[in-house]
Amino acid sequence: MWTYLSEWLQFGVRWVHVVTAIAWIGSSFYFIALDLGLRKPHGAPMVGVGGEAWQVHGGGFYHIQKYMVAPPHMPEDLTWFKWESYATWLSGAALLFLVYYLGADLYLIDPARADLPAWAAVLIGVAGLALGWVVYDRICKSPLGKNDSVLLGIVFVYVVAASFVFSQLFSGRGAMLHTGAMIATIMTANVAMLIIPNQKIVVADLKAGRSPDPRLGAAAKQRSLHNNYLTLPVIFLMLSNHYPLAFATEWNWAIAGLVLLIGAVVRHFFNTKHKTGQHLWWCWAVAGVLFALVITLSGAPGWRASPLSEASSTNESLDFPADPQLALARSPQFQEAEGIIQSRCSMCHARKPLWPGMGHAPKGVLLENGRDIVLNASLIERQAVRSHAMPPGNITGMEPSERLALARWLETGSGRYRP
Ligand code: HEC
Repeated sequence: MWTYLSEWLQFGVRWVHVVTAIAWIGSSFYFIALDLGLRKPHGAPMVGVGGEAWQVHGGGFYHIQKYMVAPPHMPEDLTWFKWESYATWLSGAALLFLVYYLGADLYLIDPARADLPAWAAVLIGVAGLALGWVVYDRICKSPLGKNDSVLLGIVFVYVVAASFVFSQLFSGRGAMLHTGAMIATIMTANVAMLIIPNQKIVVADLKAGRSPDPRLGAAAKQRSLHNNYLTLPVIFLMLSNHYPLAFATEWNWAIAGLVLLIGAVVRHFFNTKHKTGQHLWWCWAVAGVLFALVITLSGAPGWRASPLSEASSTNESLDFPADPQLALARSPQFQEAEGIIQSRCSMCHARKPLWPGMGHAPKGVLLENGRDIVLNASLIERQAVRSHAMPPGNITGMEPSERLALARWLETGSGRYRP
């Protein structure tokens, strides 16, 4: 029951998360482009209007005017743009909890990096996200925040450093995801803790007839600029866990850094285009070179054997971090299950796959020796017992009786698994 529930809960929450993220990023891109594309008003402008834009969409024409400080009369029904951001963060946090914290053994912890108990890994993850925002906020409010370009440089170094720390504590996918989640937390907190509160003060001041402090607007604009440049990298980091070459290599933290630069340079292209109409094609050339560097780094040997290399393919140490895994390894049905997996799955899910044209184990899932098989028990259950997703198209001819045998192993190995 739990398998079905957790699978569908994850899918449902992921659905919400992707939709809210599209809404957030979509509105953010829209407003950036709109703002940069405003032109001087034609004819006699309305009082306080600093720029206007004409747009056509969905069968109608829109005439948008921007009041630089405020309109002469504050309208009653102002639309605020904040729930797109909050809903993205909340659904993302739920997904992080469901996939990485409830499934910490499988997704978050890599005993070869740091042999943490699940609760400690989760605590480090949550603390990392909170601290990530607090330190960033302090940096922005310190004298270092006076110069926008200097601050952007510092934020870059800061995020790469955090990514490095995560990569030393977590599995590759856990590290990339926490780097992304830290950036996303900073972005949402920028909205919730600074941009919206500052705007509220400005509105209240205007309603009361006071002239608002221009520093409030300047600070909000600075955070908006950061959010603008962080949007593309955060999406890469969130998607990276589907691609083992992006997360399961030694240099994943450096890849995260390069992706921050790619995101910034691509945003720069579009920002300039929207503002001046000029196309800075060199931005794409730089992005291409950086992307080639990412590809090169993903194959470069690190100072430690890469998790995808041959070095760890021995079967000698059967040390399992958790009790249920020990029970699975000791199950009387284990040998049979191991034989089935090795004959039906290992040709693809190996350190050196035998399947023609396959360079590395798909999705980084290794099913080669007993330890691999036990560590991935719940993935096997999902892909080959509960569903028939694997082998793809049943290409290796797995028999129904073999799926049943795997189910028996999962059941006897641990009370948690019931077919
Ligand atoms: C012919 C090669 C091949 C064989 C044999 C094979 N797989 Fe896979 N497996 C793949 C590919 C390709 C993917 C990636 C699918 C994708 O991109 O969604 C994959 C993905 C997976 C994943 C990760 C799914 C995810 O999205 O996280 C698991 C787990 C898995 N396979 C388990 C198994 C098991 C168990 C068997 C044996 C019963 C098996 N595979 C047999 C090719 C294979």
